[in-house]
Amino acid sequence: MSEVTENGITVVANNYWTPNDRDGERFECAEGAWMYTEDGEAYLDMLAGYSANNFGHGNPIIREALIDQEMTGLTLAPRAFATKQLYRFGVEIGELTGYEMVLPMNGGAEAVETAIKTSRKWGQEVKGVPVNQGNIIVMNENFHGRTTTIVSFSDDEQARNGFGPFTPGFRKAEFGNVDDIEDVMDENTVAVLFEPIQGEAGVRVPPPGFLRQLRELCTREKVLMVADEIQSGFGRTGKNFACDHEDVKPDMMIVAKALGGGRMPTSAVLSSKDILGVLEPGDHGSTYGGNPLACAVARAAISILKSGQFQPNVTERGEQLRERLDELVGNGLTEVRGKGLWYGFDIDPRYITGKKMTAQLWGRHVLSKEADLYTMRFSPTFAINEEEIDYAANQVRDVLYVAGKRR
Ligand SMILES: Cc1ncc(COP(=O)(O)O)c(C=O)c1O
Repeated sequence: MSEVTENGITVVANNYWTPNDRDGERFECAEGAWMYTEDGEAYLDMLAGYSANNFGHGNPIIREALIDQEMTGLTLAPRAFATKQLYRFGVEIGELTGYEMVLPMNGGAEAVETAIKTSRKWGQEVKGVPVNQGNIIVMNENFHGRTTTIVSFSDDEQARNGFGPFTPGFRKAEFGNVDDIEDVMDENTVAVLFEPIQGEAGVRVPPPGFLRQLRELCTREKVLMVADEIQSGFGRTGKNFACDHEDVKPDMMIVAKALGGGRMPTSAVLSSKDILGVLEPGDHGSTYGGNPLACAVARAAISILKSGQFQPNVTERGEQLRERLDELVGNGLTEVRGKGLWYGFDIDPRYITGKKMTAQLWGRHVLSKEADLYTMRFSPTFAINEEEIDYAANQVRDVLYVAGKRR
């Protein structure tokens, strides 16, 4: 869980021991799709900060926005006072997404907590659910962050062990199965919280039609459809947001990660006035939420997304990656899943574990991370090129080849 540095001081940094966690081998700088160690070794980043760095390390548009705002001297103002950047950010993200109300926060989990609080208050005040009786349906295998409330409804034992007591008021249903969600629903259900594609679960894509059916169910039962687009949004799947693939507009959308351009932790909850408007001044807040520096960076990220600059590359490189990984099914892989530039792949357990593959790919200068015992995922920056995709795929192929020989 941690790394001992020097003078007996322990820095809680990594969840896992990492092969290059030694002096001279720690990362120092980055550009485009590459990260460099203190010793100048180059590593191809196939994770992009779990989709936070979509637009590439050192993206000049985001860098310029950050520096320009820094130079104004106004980097933080209490949210009680309006700033130009917060105002412009609100308008621009509203235009991008089609929502009429936006509440900026900092990290992803904080925005998920905001959506949970909003759903509960909406349930009580608008739907008429008795006080403290509202329930929220979540999916099995979900990942929405690490706060005590959020891990209360996680399936991941490690994420929960030791951290109870947990927050009540959540029910589980099978991801991708609208009938199951309907079975679990009752008159006190206020929201269904879901990821349109489950990233941490290994890039699990629901069956076609799931989002539309869920939209219909939520509308019929007066339940909020709350999409966590923290990892799936901002171009990762080839469209601005994953729900766009089925032309579905959730009642509430949560964005983070790439909204902060890999620079500033920035998140937002988007909805209508009827829903988000249940929060009154003083109900909820955050010191750094919507600070001018974060808003300037977020506006740059929005402008990059809107420019369409990266979308063709996401599609082309995504297809290339899928083809290359598909070739390995039957030769060490059992399944490849994903959309856009985001793939999860299952390893044949007879070959190698995900953890060992992570270490072996590191040894071959490809940065990735297992999603499960035998599952890996790739979510490179959109700046990646054809040669680099081939490089990453070749390393997976070679790791499997060597592991296959040892079987
Ligand atoms: C779908 C989803 N929701 C929420 C989060 C939590 O975001 P953060 O780590 O910024 O709190 C993550 C992070 O991986 C995520 O993938």
